[in-house]
Amino acid sequence: MERIPLIIDTDMAFGSPCADIDDAVALLFAFSSPELCVKAVSAAGGNAPPDRVSRNIDMLLSTISEDVPHSFSASRPLDPWFWVDGRWSASKEEPVSRQVYQHLPDSVSLMHSVLSSSPFPMTIVTIGPMTNAALLLLQYPEDSRKIDRIVSMGGSIHMEGVSGGPAEFNIKADPEAASIIFSSGIPVCLFPLDVTKKKKIYPETIASWSGKGPLARKLREASLAFMEYRAKRDGYFPPYSFFHDVLPLAYLAEPSLFTMRECRISVNLVGNATRGVTVVDMADSGMSIATDADSDAVFDFVDKRIMERFGAI
Ligand code: RIB
Ligand code: CA
Repeated sequence: MERIPLIIDTDMAFGSPCADIDDAVALLFAFSSPELCVKAVSAAGGNAPPDRVSRNIDMLLSTISEDVPHSFSASRPLDPWFWVDGRWSASKEEPVSRQVYQHLPDSVSLMHSVLSSSPFPMTIVTIGPMTNAALLLLQYPEDSRKIDRIVSMGGSIHMEGVSGGPAEFNIKADPEAASIIFSSGIPVCLFPLDVTKKKKIYPETIASWSGKGPLARKLREASLAFMEYRAKRDGYFPPYSFFHDVLPLAYLAEPSLFTMRECRISVNLVGNATRGVTVVDMADSGMSIATDADSDAVFDFVDKRIMERFGAI
């Protein structure tokens, strides 16, 4: 079996206070899957500021003893309005010094060096805002020849996005970056909220999830704290969350669990209410979008793989 060589670009907040764990679960699944070969993990700002995301990734990789190239990022979105700054400035964590991670390259340099030294085209998986992928294409346009496809969690077809608005978080945090990716001509496979929200993860689901070791315990604690915080903030009960970012990786490992449609995807860049909204028309354009998924089967598939590989850590 040919393993798929991947660069995973993530805004992993696990390791920061009140953080969801879906990026971490996506990374653990990727490292557990024989179909996938993670060549690098690059840090993007999103769920947490990029410096904290960089530290979180470094911590997770050392916990699971995966010595893959990874990055330190302090970059901000291309977004001139910098919408996500509100979330970053509310961060209760001290900034992370670049000095501590001076041995790590920045995210775009890492992506460029891995792509340019690869003898074959690679898949870039983005599970946070698309800032790094867009900067890569702007700074190293020649690298597009080394990108087989970009597989992303983001956007929505019909479903509402963050805080009741129409735009999904990863796209809304950097719409200009998403627009560059969607108009690049590189094949894009998009996993929107319409499929990532098909399965709610409840406290009892996560209580039985994963293994017996300290990492599993930290993941469960983080997930429960995040579920309770969101349920209290948005006024619903019982608490729940979603494993959004697992879906692009599960698709690469087992496409038969998903229904994909050829489409053309663009992103709205104007209007307070509409900026960051993805516009999807079902036309042949080299892009595809997930319109359905066997969510229970995906969850079990992911749970089993992670348990087998990391259940005791
Ligand atoms: O809207 C869901 C996306 O926002 C996921 O990638 C989640 O991790 C957050 O980054
Ligand atoms: Ca994410």
